[in-house]
Amino acid sequence: MQLREALTSGTDRLTRAGTGDLRKDAGLLLMFALGRDRAYIFSHPEYPLTEPEAARYDEAISKRVQGMPPQYITGHQEFWGMDFIVSPSVLIPRPETEHLVETVLELARSMEHPRIVDVGTGSGCIALALAKELPRAEVYASDISPEALDIARANAKQHSLEQRVIFCRSDLLEAFLQENDFDFVVSNPPYISELEKEQLQAEVRDFEPHLALFAGPSGYDVIEKLTKKAIAVLKPGGWLAMEIGAGQETKLRQLLSSWRQVQFTNDLRGIPRVAAARRV
Ligand SMILES: C[S@@+](CC[C@H](N)C(=O)[O-])C[C@H]1O[C@@H](n2cnc3c(N)ncnc32)[C@H](O)[C@@H]1O
Repeated sequence: MQLREALTSGTDRLTRAGTGDLRKDAGLLLMFALGRDRAYIFSHPEYPLTEPEAARYDEAISKRVQGMPPQYITGHQEFWGMDFIVSPSVLIPRPETEHLVETVLELARSMEHPRIVDVGTGSGCIALALAKELPRAEVYASDISPEALDIARANAKQHSLEQRVIFCRSDLLEAFLQENDFDFVVSNPPYISELEKEQLQAEVRDFEPHLALFAGPSGYDVIEKLTKKAIAVLKPGGWLAMEIGAGQETKLRQLLSSWRQVQFTNDLRGIPRVAAARRV
């Protein structure tokens, strides 16, 4: 089979399945199966696929037809201009989470050696982006999921940041409660209500880890606990910075009412997406 035919037949299969941005996904999966870049795929229509390449492509298209996100098929997602390894054990990093990184960088600008802990690190995207941008920071990254921590460690290695980030398994901040001098507690916690499960996009609900998505019937279970525990590990004047869901600003203002300097950052759609609050 030539590359041109592979692209057409893959596109046809995805079109029939009605999955995602079709032509783009067929091209992306072909790039993955051949280990080639986009330019090669579109400039070599007559290239004959080898048998292993054709089998790899067929398997990738089949997974996509079943609704698996392309990132779990290729094993990669870009975040903050960095390539991250992903697997179904971790949330696929989202562009809106870059606002959380931006917020922390802005607040950390005047600090010499900020001490930062990223709670629920998943792929490690937030902790590693911060470690890269803040070479003098001391960065810790924790998760309750050992499988997620394995992926985060692999990402640290591929970015040569394994000496910069200390990974640790912890239920929220339990492993850090004997400390009280962090400048930042940073987190993109699970914040979707379990009652919204059925309305959620099937691609997210059926493939991404529920531990990363859902936080009790209200969606605030993890945020509420984190807000209470963060006070214990932050130094006076330290910051709690969290990604929040659409429509959660009012509740967050209430939860953070005893903190000083509470601020929100909007995402590109104008939705308050990051809550940051300073410990008294
Ligand atoms: C929304 S994901 C965020 C992943 C990553 N930081 C990102 O932004 O892409 C939430 C993460 O919190 C972790 N998590 C859930 N409950 C936790 C808990 N009680 N303690 C620590 N981590 C938890 C999940 O395993 C998941 O990796």
